Amino acid sequence: MSSSAVAAAVCADPVALNLWHPVAAVVETAPGAVHETRLLEEALSYAVTTDGGVHAWRSAPSLAPGTEFDAALVPEPLQAINRFGYLWTSYGSPPDDLFDLPEFHEPDRRNVWGGTIGVHTSAPRAVENFLDMGHFPYVHTGYLGIEPHTEVADYDVDLSPDGSEVVATRCRFFQPMGAVNASGGMMVGYVYRVPHPYCAVLYKSNSVDESRNDAITIFCQPIDEVTIRAHMLLSMLDDASDDRAIKRFQLLIFGQDKPILENQHPRRLPLEPRAETPIRSDKMSIAYRRWLADMGLTYGVTPPEGSRGRVDDGCRDPGPSPTQK
Ligand SMILES: [Fe+2]
Repeated sequence: MSSSAVAAAVCADPVALNLWHPVAAVVETAPGAVHETRLLEEALSYAVTTDGGVHAWRSAPSLAPGTEFDAALVPEPLQAINRFGYLWTSYGSPPDDLFDLPEFHEPDRRNVWGGTIGVHTSAPRAVENFLDMGHFPYVHTGYLGIEPHTEVADYDVDLSPDGSEVVATRCRFFQPMGAVNASGGMMVGYVYRVPHPYCAVLYKSNSVDESRNDAITIFCQPIDEVTIRAHMLLSMLDDASDDRAIKRFQLLIFGQDKPILENQHPRRLPLEPRAETPIRSDKMSIAYRRWLADMGLTYGVTPPEGSRGRVDDGCRDPGPSPTQK
């Protein structure tokens, strides 16, 4: 297959097309203007109106980026919703609503939009890395882990009763400085949720309130199969730190993950059970990969059994680099 034929291909995966996808933090989107990004290999335009309404459509000459938004000029609106401070849209028939994140609505929480970072990897690779405690001492040395505390203790992983999420509980890890307001090293308890093929939530214990957890999410916007914009949201119990300090800490941590992610090959996540060595495929990633395979997702992964006849990464032009906000 020639590279030009590959570059012309767009997403044909109905599972991916029917998902809600995050495209921008509403608070960081200048209201009343047309903005543009890419989603599933297509140019996508969006706008937030001054009264908070959200709009999305396939880019069209009638509404160029930077011009004033006029709903009457939208050729064919896509469904769009504002959830957790992000604008979500879909090219297909998405579920009636997105997964819930109850913590976001708790009045004493600090919701901080942790930034958007372009990463040259697939959304499932980014989610799997987000779920992996094993890399903490090596990639986030001095923050989320430190030698010799390298052991990932046993934990439980299951599907939610309706099968809509992968959930891991009873995770514990020693962290020298697990959050911007941490006063020192502590055993930090984690719970992970994967409520969407390209999104994950982690809950971690904190030093402010032992009975509740901080929530940190990664919402991946697939630009194409091997390029994402990773949007982060932090829902914290932290009265002391300002938003910028919380955001800076999250960007520091994710900045350590980015080169690791970009060096992982193949960039698409292999769903074949024996595709990678067991050391990478711990219980949580095995459950996540199986869950993706069972839902029939093909976009951003290499499905089990046979290929789709598309060349793997390295041969395709991912297009312009996603901008980092
Ligand atoms: Fe990491």
